[in-house]
Amino acid sequence: MSLLDKLRLVLSLGQGIKGLTKGLAEAEAGTDPIELFNAWFDRAKGSGVALPEAMTLATASKDGAPSARMVLLKGVDERGFIFYTNYDSRKCRDLDENPRAALVCHWTVLQRQVRIEGTVERTGAEESAVYFHTRGRGSQIGAWASAQSAALESYDQLVRKAKDAEEKFRGQEVPLPPFWGGYVVRPTRIEFWQGRANRLHDRLVYERDGDEWKLTWKVTRLNP
Ligand SMILES: Cc1cc2nc3c(=O)[nH]c(=O)nc-3n(C[C@H](O)[C@H](O)[C@H](O)COP(=O)(O)O)c2cc1C
Repeated sequence: MSLLDKLRLVLSLGQGIKGLTKGLAEAEAGTDPIELFNAWFDRAKGSGVALPEAMTLATASKDGAPSARMVLLKGVDERGFIFYTNYDSRKCRDLDENPRAALVCHWTVLQRQVRIEGTVERTGAEESAVYFHTRGRGSQIGAWASAQSAALESYDQLVRKAKDAEEKFRGQEVPLPPFWGGYVVRPTRIEFWQGRANRLHDRLVYERDGDEWKLTWKVTRLNP
């Protein structure tokens, strides 16, 4: 963390300092929102902000009822933004019915927010397995034990299920559960929000221009 970032954290109790943040000019932002996202994400990781990869994931059921929860951003590439979860969970029931999602990253000390909207698709099992095996063994066992979003009789029942999984896989590598894996959010709209003094914030929106799969983006500045 740089000295200036430490100062920001201490003086603002993590809230950031208006006026110390530089604005977001079109020329500096460039034409590729993934590149800009990566630059902001790197900056967030170096800023001392807690869990820079934490983001809100919003989904909606087929009748349009929204729900939101936190997930961790585990990768960004030319396809989009990747997170991992239990495919039987409530969020995935929504995504099966309505394969569109919105993500929000918020980096308090930098006074930055990124809003991503797009379509979703599952990562292949091979890609999910590679990530799954980077997790600690305890988390791997936890994934087997948890029927995420389903009702549980008691906490003890969960602990028992974790013990059973531990027993089952003793002395061997924990395999990828068939009900667990990743999603890629393929962005169609990405908004970069930079907080500035007097609420005269910057908002630059990148929207796919023309053909959905052609990688050109139209940039628009919005009122804060
Ligand atoms: C900071 C944070 C990060 C989280 N990351 C994940 C994640 O990457 N994947 C996941 O399935 N749940 C994650 N969770 C738990 C989810 O917020 C949520 O409780 C869970 O996925 C069930 O959501 P659902 O019932 O809407 O499907 C995280 C929670 C917090 C607070």
